[in-house]
Amino acid sequence: MQNNVLILDFGSQYTQLIARRVRELNIYCEIHPYNKIPADISKFKAVILSGSPNSVRGENVLHPDLNGIRNKKPLLAVCYGAQYLAHFSGGEVAPSNTREYGRANLSFVENDVFFDTISEGSQVWMSHSDTIKSLPTNAKLLASTHDVKNAAYKIEGEQTYAIQFHPEVYHSTDGKKILENFLVNIAKVEQNWTPDSFVDETVSKLKTKLGNDKVVLGLSGGVDSSVAAMLLHKAIGANLYCIFVNNGLLRKDEFKNVLKQYEGMGLNVKGVDASDRFLNALAGQSDPEEKRKTIGRVFIEVFDDEANLIENVKWLAQGTIYPDVIESVSATGGPSATIKSHHNVGGLPDFMKLKVVEPLKALFKDEVRRVGASMNMDKALLGRHPFPGPGLAIRILGDITAEKVRILQDVDAVFINGLKSAGLYDKVWQAGAILLPVNSVGVMGDERTYEKVVALRAVESTDGMTADWVNLPYEFLQKTSNAIINKVKGVNRVVYDISSKPPATIEWE
Ligand code: XMP
Repeated sequence: MQNNVLILDFGSQYTQLIARRVRELNIYCEIHPYNKIPADISKFKAVILSGSPNSVRGENVLHPDLNGIRNKKPLLAVCYGAQYLAHFSGGEVAPSNTREYGRANLSFVENDVFFDTISEGSQVWMSHSDTIKSLPTNAKLLASTHDVKNAAYKIEGEQTYAIQFHPEVYHSTDGKKILENFLVNIAKVEQNWTPDSFVDETVSKLKTKLGNDKVVLGLSGGVDSSVAAMLLHKAIGANLYCIFVNNGLLRKDEFKNVLKQYEGMGLNVKGVDASDRFLNALAGQSDPEEKRKTIGRVFIEVFDDEANLIENVKWLAQGTIYPDVIESVSATGGPSATIKSHHNVGGLPDFMKLKVVEPLKALFKDEVRRVGASMNMDKALLGRHPFPGPGLAIRILGDITAEKVRILQDVDAVFINGLKSAGLYDKVWQAGAILLPVNSVGVMGDERTYEKVVALRAVESTDGMTADWVNLPYEFLQKTSNAIINKVKGVNRVVYDISSKPPATIEWE
């Protein structure tokens, strides 16, 4: 990818946010660990140094090799980056005496294109415990705040800028504009990263890479695998073989409906109903991790059986997205890969001997949705709530039986359809029902009942890492609870989960 920005990660919790902001400017960027700078950096038009939990003083200094970068590429150093440039180029960094967390307001010392159109007093966000006492050689101070004298500086004769605050966080009101000033006005990076350009470029790359080879892909009904499938379909048409496995733990009628939808999209999909195989393998298991492992193992077996039926298949396609693969550095400074495991496909088992193709590996979730929209994919499919790979198995607490699956599917359908008809579905990040392993006493008609309790869960989140419960209207909850108890045989009590993550998690298992 030409016209690219390199973000060097020093382990800040905000590094991914820098990438998000840059992408929002329609500029492509990649995050690399500070100590694994790509050998060929000719494609990068500008470089950004991230913040870090480490200090430039003492033992845990993270030293990037800036030889090919400093004074050769436009460089923006943020927080730790700014301190690093100061400390090791003739300036001084020391612990701060005053509190330097939270909001501060810029006061300009020098006019510079870097702060073009930004007003005096603009709010920025600080988060650091060291401070830059004196600037490096050839530096010119550009801005201060009340507590931080050296809040922004540039190096004369270079396109090197440094800021103590975090432009990437939402609370830095003009942060995105400051990044734009640097990337577009100073570094002259073109703003040509759009979903359409991504589709064109990816399809043409996939054509070259895959030629006439056959590719197999496991569809899950979710956004990522569906968008990956559409890109591959555009590139190689009938050579893409999609497999959609029913593990018997999907939502009510989902297998049938999603299969129909995929066929409508022109995809070559084989639906494999392996419900019995999964439910038999799960019989008697009640430990969540054991259930997950069983489902992962059976999925691979089923998928492998099906892939073996396709003659001469060479590639396995996966819907892996950027947050799954970003390598970062740990807070202690040691380079470590923080890679989220890909639950749905469970990774490539060695025995399959297939090469892997991952067309969405560079995208964030909302970009995947935008790419899907630019290929005219169905809005309802693109807006679907995340659904865990093990499906209802981890929402049926304890052991799983066909009857429990039936009950939970019915409850879930009432809840989800209710959210849709009340116009609440798109306002919620994820929702579902949980079947609890307890019976409670109730009274229906004049009869005593002793039946199941279900919990409803609806959360707001951006990435599933943290989440808060949604304040659904009481009236909606009341209607939903009545509908569930009246329609679903076997349930006599409904509760609503009001726990945030942390300390709880989204799923109960
Ligand atoms: P937790 O429960 O960890 O969930 O707060 C965070 C997000 O991950 C989903 N999740 C899973 N997805 N396989 C998956 O594919 C799993 O085993 C799994 N466990 C949790 C969960 O639905 C939520 O979106």
